[in-house]
Amino acid sequence: MSSTKKSGAKKSTEERRDPIMKWATRVVILALFLAFCGWLDTIKDRWYVFEPSKLHALAQDAIAAHPDDTGAMVHHIVSNLTAEYPSSQIRINPNEREWVFNNAGGAMGGMYIIHASITEYLIVFGTPLGTEGHSGIHTADDYFHILSGEQWAYTLGSFEKEVYTAGSVHLMPRGVRKQYKMHKGCFALEYARGWIPLMLPFGFADAISSTMDYISVYDTVRATGREMIKNLLIGKI
Ligand SMILES: *[C@@H]1O[C@H](CO)[C@@H](O)[C@H](O)[C@H]1NC(C)=O
Repeated sequence: MSSTKKSGAKKSTEERRDPIMKWATRVVILALFLAFCGWLDTIKDRWYVFEPSKLHALAQDAIAAHPDDTGAMVHHIVSNLTAEYPSSQIRINPNEREWVFNNAGGAMGGMYIIHASITEYLIVFGTPLGTEGHSGIHTADDYFHILSGEQWAYTLGSFEKEVYTAGSVHLMPRGVRKQYKMHKGCFALEYARGWIPLMLPFGFADAISSTMDYISVYDTVRATGREMIKNLLIGKI
């Protein structure tokens, strides 16, 4: 009887220590993981190819060369990038007719993926109808170059709207949240740099929870995956 009691007591001490060890191990693993993420974050700029100031100049050139013709602006931009960057350095998607619907943060528009890698993407986004929604909270800096129309934005605490017109750039630094509206006929060249895969859930959430537009999800996954893999194959992360 007494020996049973003894072993029972011993077991309960072990049982009490076990969860502590388990949680200590988990905390250490989490700390190591966070340190690894912190380190990755300090080196991400190694893989950036595009320069925001150059893209801004290019967007302005495209607007000046083809006023009132957004399609021609897009062609101007893609031709310039294809000529400017060797295919050994970066993969540019030359198919200007590969448009997909994008629903995110309650807003809807069409998107053409010019470039997508782990650390950068460059797309044309817009709609002739206009749309409005939440910007999302992103892990990348986002440069929104307006090609045509106007984009309006609202930051909490302000009583005035921010207005971005053709030729201007709306920079949304990492972590910033806004309500935004693409006014009628607004199209933009959007450049994001940072950790792109972490932005993807925002890009798919509306389709999964609301529109159920599996065709757009499939086309977006296919185009993004293809572009990311083609970039990885040439060493562009
Ligand atoms: C591309 O556009 C940039 C910026 O406008 C310009 O400086 C450059 O000369 C252009 N490159 C080509 C190949 O047209």
